[in-house]
Amino acid sequence: MKKILITGGAGFIGSHLCDELITKGYDVTVYDNLLPQVHGQTARQKIRF
Ligand SMILES: NC(=O)c1ccc[n+]([C@@H]2O[C@H](COP(=O)([O-])OP(=O)(O)OC[C@H]3O[C@@H](n4cnc5c(N)ncnc54)[C@H](O)[C@@H]3O)[C@@H](O)[C@H]2O)c1
Repeated sequence: MKKILITGGAGFIGSHLCDELITKGYDVTVYDNLLPQVHGQTARQKIRF
């Protein structure tokens, strides 16, 4: 299985790209810093690093 790293994968384009690639059977890893301007000030507090 091919492995793909998507930077900015929690954003608009990246998240849609993730969905499509997963549907096609790829092993997808997302790298995203959950930028507060995009995801809000509390997004980082909602996940465990
Ligand atoms: N509903 C909509 O139609 C809609 C919604 C959002 C965006 N857009 C449009 O889509 C286009 C851009 O979408 P996009 O996906 O490129 O932008 P985006 O802002 O949606 O996603 C960028 C992602 O990259 C991440 N990021 C930023 N800097 C980073 C860093 N240094 N390290 C790791 N991650 C980092 C952010 O946290 C974010 O999740 C724009 O034209 C925007 O206006 C449309």
